[in-house]
Amino acid sequence: MLRISGLSKTFNIGTVNEKTALQDISLDVKDGDFITIVGSNGAGKSTLFNAIAGDFLPDQGKIILDGTNITFTPSHKRAKYIGRLFQDPLRGTAPHMTIEENLALAYLRAGHSGIFSRITKADEEAFKDQLRQLDLGLEERLHSPVGTLSGGQRQALTLLMATIVPPRILLMDEHTAALDPQAAGKIMTLSDRIIKEHRITCLMITHNLEQALTYGNRTLMMAEGRIVLDLEEEQRKSLSVDDLLHLFRQKEGRALDNDRILLSKRT
Ligand SMILES: Nc1ncnc2c1ncn2[C@@H]1O[C@H](COP(=O)(O)OP(=O)(O)OP(=O)(O)O)[C@@H](O)[C@H]1O
Ligand SMILES: [Mg+2]
Repeated sequence: MLRISGLSKTFNIGTVNEKTALQDISLDVKDGDFITIVGSNGAGKSTLFNAIAGDFLPDQGKIILDGTNITFTPSHKRAKYIGRLFQDPLRGTAPHMTIEENLALAYLRAGHSGIFSRITKADEEAFKDQLRQLDLGLEERLHSPVGTLSGGQRQALTLLMATIVPPRILLMDEHTAALDPQAAGKIMTLSDRIIKEHRITCLMITHNLEQALTYGNRTLMMAEGRIVLDLEEEQRKSLSVDDLLHLFRQKEGRALDNDRILLSKRT
């Protein structure tokens, strides 16, 4: 279980740019949970992920994973068991390296050293098997630089890299937002399949409210550094997107303001 307790973070303390991004956040993520997170711009969603991944030290609070306090564990160590996907498909891959080299890196990052003093024929076959499951023909392009792939293909590869050794926790920060609708749909379906297959515990930030209610088993809404709504399985099941927006307004006394939600509604 991932237990976050009393987590707070203020950036640029004492300057005109002072910003409290996280305010006393507490959250228990149970094994196998798939939690979706929505909220206004600047609500602290990405900052919460950055805190879990160890990009900075919180001002207050603790992060406990399976009973171990990892609050002060450096991010590169956490990367062994916390996988991340970002909006930009190039984050998390090395664009000038080939697909094969990137997959080898993914193993190394997860702490499987030793296998890849050189990539053997058997490794290559294993990579091909994994890539075949993405159903994008990437198994034929093992030696292509990642930078030559389309956005959707790159994100599929990033997804594979983040899960090829299933992480303890997977953090997805709007990982389909930069893709065209067709590629986004495909990556979301793939993500859900891989998550279910390996029973990966995960959190996903999305501006797609429909997606937030469809995937996973629990939905959080954030505003101004706090979790303002926490909807569990039963309660969430019967909710529509409009109900969700209504609940937010009821709780916060204002509409949910997220430019990407507004933009996606227009299309
Ligand atoms: N490293 C940083 N230094 C200074 N301010 C930061 C830093 N990281 C985040 N912030 C600020 O903290 C607030 C929360 O940012 P965050 O990126 O977590 O929002 P978000 O909920 O992910 O928003 P969006 O939906 O726009 O992605 C913002 O005001 C942001 O400018
Ligand atoms: Mg964000």
